[in-house]
Amino acid sequence: LSRSTAYITLPSVLVAGPPGAGKTALVTRLERRAPKPATTYTSQTTNIVELAVNEDGSSSYNDDLDASGAVAKKFLVIDTPGHGKLRAATLARLTTASSTASDTKLRAVVYMVDSAALAEDGGIAAAASYLYDILLTLQKRMGAGNSSKAPPAIPVLVAANKADLFTALPAALIKTQLEAELGRIRTSRSKGLLSSGVGADDVDSANESDDWLGEYGSKAFHFAQMREFDIDVDVVAGNVVGGDGSGPGVDKWWKWIADKV
Ligand code: GTP
Ligand code: MG
Repeated sequence: LSRSTAYITLPSVLVAGPPGAGKTALVTRLERRAPKPATTYTSQTTNIVELAVNEDGSSSYNDDLDASGAVAKKFLVIDTPGHGKLRAATLARLTTASSTASDTKLRAVVYMVDSAALAEDGGIAAAASYLYDILLTLQKRMGAGNSSKAPPAIPVLVAANKADLFTALPAALIKTQLEAELGRIRTSRSKGLLSSGVGADDVDSANESDDWLGEYGSKAFHFAQMREFDIDVDVVAGNVVGGDGSGPGVDKWWKWIADKV
């Protein structure tokens, strides 16, 4: 008997983002099907929870599918720590998901940001630099390997959290500000390559374009450039905390996730 058949790998969704964005609040809220999230603490480790949605993806995270006897699609949500020193492990998860021999079935990435913190000094820069690393890792993953079979596409949801706060930036503004900052990071990192003391002749141009996010040589960065690498990016506002009417809640994110698993 083959042992491998004993393990069924569930599709998974990775939740990443800067510290304090509300990742653990979201995941615990979905897990408990509770209107109010649990008290959270700064995450130091990755936490994986199993969730379910009915087969056509129409059930709410509030529905108890076991009780209703519905046929459910199970999937995993991976809540990762946002601290800068713990990001390498999260990025490694994106890379291992690329190999066909991998035991993970990564279907989507939710990049959560605190929409109010983005309005503060340095907020956009902090949120963009981690997002840059994640998008570049996903982009390289599409180009990696010499197999003709492209790895499955991994869409990214930028979940603009804490929309209940009056200081929160609207999603459309978050989108354009992140794009502008990702463009700045792209420019400064490419200058870093050129001024690193390596002569122009020594620079492997293939390598340089490898480290360039989005359309190579383009002036401004736009999320739409990621489609070339099969990466769709959506920016959607919501809030985990806050009562009814205080914001859009988590329903749109849940639908987005349910659609991808
Ligand atoms: P790390 O684990 O450090 O990466 O942070 P995290 O992204 O897991 O953040 P966490 O879920 O611990 O939430 C941080 C704080 O934000 C908590 O105090 C939450 O209650 C609060 N929070 C989360 N979502 C919302 C929201 O929608 N609105 C408001 N106002 N606060 C929120
Ligand atoms: Mg956390």
